[in-house]
Amino acid sequence: MSTTQNSDRHLSPQFRKWDITQRRGAIAEILESTGFSREAVEQALGTDNDLIDLSDVMVESAIGYAALPLGVCRGLVADGRTYDVPLVTEEPSVIAAATYGSGIVARSGGFTTWSDDPITTGQIFIEGATTDAEAAVMSAEPKIRAALAPVIANMEKRGGGYRGMDAAHLPETGLLRVQLHLDVRDAMGANLVNTAAEAARPVVEQVTGGRCLMAILSNAAERRLAGASFKVPVSALTRSERSGADVARRIEMASDLAQEDPSRAVTHNKGVMNGITALMLATGNDTRAVEAAVHRYASRTGKYRGVATYRGVNDQLEGSIEIPLAVGTVGGAAGIHPTSRLALALLGNPSSSELARVAAALGLAQNLAAVSALVTEGIQRGHMAHHARRLAWRVGGGAEPGASGQSL
Ligand code: MEV
Repeated sequence: MSTTQNSDRHLSPQFRKWDITQRRGAIAEILESTGFSREAVEQALGTDNDLIDLSDVMVESAIGYAALPLGVCRGLVADGRTYDVPLVTEEPSVIAAATYGSGIVARSGGFTTWSDDPITTGQIFIEGATTDAEAAVMSAEPKIRAALAPVIANMEKRGGGYRGMDAAHLPETGLLRVQLHLDVRDAMGANLVNTAAEAARPVVEQVTGGRCLMAILSNAAERRLAGASFKVPVSALTRSERSGADVARRIEMASDLAQEDPSRAVTHNKGVMNGITALMLATGNDTRAVEAAVHRYASRTGKYRGVATYRGVNDQLEGSIEIPLAVGTVGGAAGIHPTSRLALALLGNPSSSELARVAAALGLAQNLAAVSALVTEGIQRGHMAHHARRLAWRVGGGAEPGASGQSL
């Protein structure tokens, strides 16, 4: 059997129905003409049979697995505990920067963190609801809870469950939005909340006299915030022949800049997410959900702003961050992927709230490192050290163990 459509070298429409060995063969066939040997294709698609099987279970049309660097930001201190934080990233200086930022804060006592309860919100949007539908749906709460009961029974046994609802007419579309707030404990909660919203949908249609347009969780995660803060003496920030007081003043100016100018705020927040997304990847979390929520939260005032802020108070620099973090430590990839399981074990098998607090502290550490490099010698010096290692690797010289640029 030919596994490709030979005329144009595209994959056959049957591709997704084949077994993974056939799919890998089809990829190899297509790439042959581009100079990829069979061995090179096998290598690039991954050769670990367990991971190949797992990939096949996890996604449709799987052909293998992608290997990205997994490293550790050592020694992040939060609330008196020291964490070695696993990070998956393709960017050379992310882990070096996270470790540098964490180190500055650790030497002054570490981060203080907090988090909301793990509440995820399901939304049901209704077309053609009666004008008094808001009140009608609110008074139907017992009926809605009865519809939810079988879906959330297990979550209730784990201490989670229903935490309230609200309803509002949206003026532009005229849709009625009904929101169900569920405590999902250690899960990210998307599956549970989507099932719950769909279970409640017929009752909501019935009491509002309308038709459901859609029922789905909201990724805004605005009831699932986490935050971190720190204080360091300005003397801890001395860098590139600049006094700590001067560096602190410049970091505060960079913080104000990220509040004023959205085009700078995006890059500031990208630096925050360098660490958080890498932690989400390592722990098997939904990076897209977390990114979407953080950027939405950054614009909650009507203007997109930096989510990490700094100010100088006497001879100290204070930093803080507050962001939505809908993360899970059970379910999804977290339960089945060996890297996720290892990453969570390295973190001490945290609850979802603890993982959110570590993520918030990590994002702030990452941003502190980036901004303190930017307002002093710039980031390129550190980048070039990493670049040199990559060049040495390409010409076959191998990498110097531990050689690293700290900045970014
Ligand atoms: C690069 O990955 C991240 C930075 O651009 C962040 C920032 O500018 O704050 C250095």
